[in-house]
Amino acid sequence: MTIRSIAAIAAMLLFAAAAPGHAQDTIKVGLIAPMTGPFAPNGKQMQTAAQLYIQEHGDMVAGHKIELVVRDDAGVPDNSKRLAQELVVNDGAKFLMGFGLTPIALAIGPIATEAKVPAIITLAGTSIITEKSPYFVRTSFTLPQSAVIIADWAAQNGIKKVVTLVTDYAPGQDAEKAFIERFKAGGGETVESLRVPLQNPDYAPFLQRAADAKPNALFIFVPASQGGVVMKQFVERGLDKSGIKLIGPGDFADDELLNGMGDAALGAVTAHNYSAAHPSAMNQAFVKAYKAASGGGRPNFVGVHTYDGMHLVYAALEKTGGDTDGTKLVEAMKGMAWESPRGPISIDPETRDIIQNIYVREVKRGDDGELYNMEFATFENVKDPVKAAK
Ligand code: PHB
Repeated sequence: MTIRSIAAIAAMLLFAAAAPGHAQDTIKVGLIAPMTGPFAPNGKQMQTAAQLYIQEHGDMVAGHKIELVVRDDAGVPDNSKRLAQELVVNDGAKFLMGFGLTPIALAIGPIATEAKVPAIITLAGTSIITEKSPYFVRTSFTLPQSAVIIADWAAQNGIKKVVTLVTDYAPGQDAEKAFIERFKAGGGETVESLRVPLQNPDYAPFLQRAADAKPNALFIFVPASQGGVVMKQFVERGLDKSGIKLIGPGDFADDELLNGMGDAALGAVTAHNYSAAHPSAMNQAFVKAYKAASGGGRPNFVGVHTYDGMHLVYAALEKTGGDTDGTKLVEAMKGMAWESPRGPISIDPETRDIIQNIYVREVKRGDDGELYNMEFATFENVKDPVKAAK
């Protein structure tokens, strides 16, 4: 961000604060989400889950009415940045939330810092993001959080030779690095590392190269909503008959799309923070309510992160007694702990990043005939390993 645009925001903020008729009793939460474009399923998860939270908990918090304002950035960082500025300056939003891709979160960081508005990350998963603004708080995950756990599982379960295939941008690089280092430490070998472009990806040639290397397992990271395409191309090339096991963080085994992937997904083992099959009473109620709210679709981790983001808004406002000073709100969020549909979670007071259980899961057919990520091992209270090592 240039000095000039920072000055422009500062001037606009002063103007907005002085402008009459600013409804003080309504608190706007700006949700910036991809409602159109290739990542639209993620925007729909975010919107549905945020609205569901409000529906379940009422729209009054600490004497203020909460208004969710959804803005479609189509997954394009320049749009997100403009929308964030408008939300803060014109709409007087007291919280920003969403950010479907790492470059979007990074574009919004300077705006959150300058405007002193909490920005809750409900999807982007690159480790470094939370270090880019003191107003970032994360309810999603970091890719290394689960990549190291699946690396250990692979090394301990007879997998010796792996090919990695990741989307070629920051979270993919984070996932790849964390996996390769940890798998090597466990005695495994990564024989090839393939990176697929983020825009208009064609996975087929990469999948063929992966197959030609004849690994025991293929480690996949693609951003949420892309898993269906990878799996389709995997089957089209006959790789489901190759005996290559699919492993990775759970992004490609997305609960919303999983059932449409068919038998090819059976046996995939992933480490992740959320499964629609998580057996808690809270999750069962959440899945049922989400399905009703979305017209039948299943919630996935994107929905859960956003549902928890709304919880953070509510709980922080309750703690400040309705004070919307952004610095006080972020302070209130630090160390907060609560039960999520994914299990117990908290906000690390030092890093503002999430601490959560990571589950190892296998895709199986449930009693209802649908495919689920069935959890079989739990690693409790996992911090982002990249920041923990600093
Ligand atoms: C990201 O861009 O950081 C990102 C997006 C979707 C995911 C994971 C990470 O599923």
